[in-house]
Amino acid sequence: MRAAGLQHPMIPMQKGERVPGLRYHPAMRLRLVEPEDAEAIRAIYNHEVTSGTNTFDLVTRSLEQQRAWIDRHRGAHPAVVAIAGGAREQVVGFAVVSPFRDRAAYATTVEDSVYVHADHRGRGIGRTLLDELLRLAAGHGFHAVIARISSENEASIRLHRSCGFELVGVEREVGRKHGRWLDVVELQRML
Ligand SMILES: CC(C)(COP(=O)(O)OP(=O)(O)OC[C@H]1O[C@@H](n2cnc3c(N)ncnc32)[C@H](O)[C@@H]1OP(=O)(O)O)[C@@H](O)C(=O)NCCC(=O)NCCS
Repeated sequence: MRAAGLQHPMIPMQKGERVPGLRYHPAMRLRLVEPEDAEAIRAIYNHEVTSGTNTFDLVTRSLEQQRAWIDRHRGAHPAVVAIAGGAREQVVGFAVVSPFRDRAAYATTVEDSVYVHADHRGRGIGRTLLDELLRLAAGHGFHAVIARISSENEASIRLHRSCGFELVGVEREVGRKHGRWLDVVELQRML
């Protein structure tokens, strides 16, 4: 199954600019992940590994690991990428669903992740990616989606709330990174 490939008219935008009344980044399209996206996804993800607490990974991903990740997300648990940049197109974000737990009875539940390149945030890309991911996940027959987010990550919490997720729990000090204890909030949306 292929993503719908949302197309938008090309309108020049300055970094961080929002067009009133325009919901989505105006010059972006979405497609399912391809093997050629490995380096771009890895760069976006590894920036978060080293720079903050948005991911609880402590070690950056190798290209080989990123390629294996893409292989795992070209079937039942899809990943979608956002592409922008006009003539010099690049992957500016990605969203993915993963199995929530290994045990068989959890098979209809997934966990989502959304990452947008630091230079392209605040322009609707995360929202567009998550909307499309939820549409795909529903189409794949999943029933519930869980988001587990560092309690410090206001942008991601807001993004998920904006897409209909509700708070279902808080895990206290379950993570430790950069010398600090970190809480995780758990949000959920039924499909
Ligand atoms: C979280 C993230 C994916 C949001 O992507 P984005 O493209 O910047 O978000 P959008 O422009 O689509 O905005 C989506 C919603 O989040 C809100 N939002 C975005 N950035 C925000 C910020 N810094 N603080 C508070 N709210 C924010 C927007 O106002 C919008 O809310 P609304 O629909 O109620 O108006 C992006 O900040 C990111 O990649 N962060 C680093 C990686 C990460 O934390 N991933 C999630 C791991 S759980």
